[in-house]
Amino acid sequence: MNYRHHFHAGSLADLVKHITLSHLLKRLHQKPAPFCVMDTHAAAGLYDMRAADAGKTGEAEAGIIPYLKLPQAPSHAPFNDVLAKHGSHLYPGSPAIIQHYLREQDKLVAIEKHPEEASKLQSTLGYDARVTIHTRDAWDAMKALIPTPEKRLLVFIDPPYEKPDENEQAFAAIKAAHAKMSHAMFALWYPLKDAVETGVLQERFAASGIKKILRADVLFSNKALPSKMNGSGMIIINPPFQIEDDLRAAYSALAPLCAPDTKPAIIDWLAGE
Ligand SMILES: C[S@@+](CC[C@H](N)C(=O)[O-])C[C@H]1O[C@@H](n2cnc3c(N)ncnc32)[C@H](O)[C@@H]1O
Repeated sequence: MNYRHHFHAGSLADLVKHITLSHLLKRLHQKPAPFCVMDTHAAAGLYDMRAADAGKTGEAEAGIIPYLKLPQAPSHAPFNDVLAKHGSHLYPGSPAIIQHYLREQDKLVAIEKHPEEASKLQSTLGYDARVTIHTRDAWDAMKALIPTPEKRLLVFIDPPYEKPDENEQAFAAIKAAHAKMSHAMFALWYPLKDAVETGVLQERFAASGIKKILRADVLFSNKALPSKMNGSGMIIINPPFQIEDDLRAAYSALAPLCAPDTKPAIIDWLAGE
């Protein structure tokens, strides 16, 4: 397990992922009933963009750095509100974004296998009675912790994709969790890297019998780059009503960061009602 998110924080893929997550969280505020967000691969939560690690891969140079120079789009407001809270040098990861959107009655269950990352996450989130951090395997945790006492649940799944079986593990874990809590929302992030692999994953979901599956694939360029990430994908089960419109607007406002000939995002249903 070598993956450290510090090297990738603030990349274009991170931006797409976190803008999407912010929209999902904002929509959870539409009802007063408490919700729980389970962040299955939480990592450290906050990244100092001035640190040596962040500069090593140059990924922020194609993501958060030019993003901050764009005119602020209204469709980016849910994410920009979180950015504004942390100041210009700190990039918020998924648990920091989720914590921002917790109301008094809501909960965050953050899962991170790597003890060093989990301990950084603890200092990022501080003492917060609404937050629980588990240093354990995401797939075991999903089995053990779902169903949750809260009826409203968002499971945000963001594996590192270091191993070839992570697509399969994610699919199996979601299928089993959905069988126990079919009204929960599940959001699975995946890289657009290998069209065959992505196709197999999406086919699996489409044929799973699970209903209401939205796919949001955002390409960064039209070049086929089999070994390099070419875009960011998300499968969202039970998405908020008409979230497609919010996402379409948010993704098109990212066009200045993508290659000039990039096709628009694909947002469609892998399975309907
Ligand atoms: C892509 S990063 C997550 C980034 C984070 N979700 C965000 O948006 O800021 C993946 C994280 O998963 C952790 N990880 C890898 N395998 C895991 C597993 N089986 N269970 C839980 N965490 C795992 C890694 O240590 C890494 O911190």
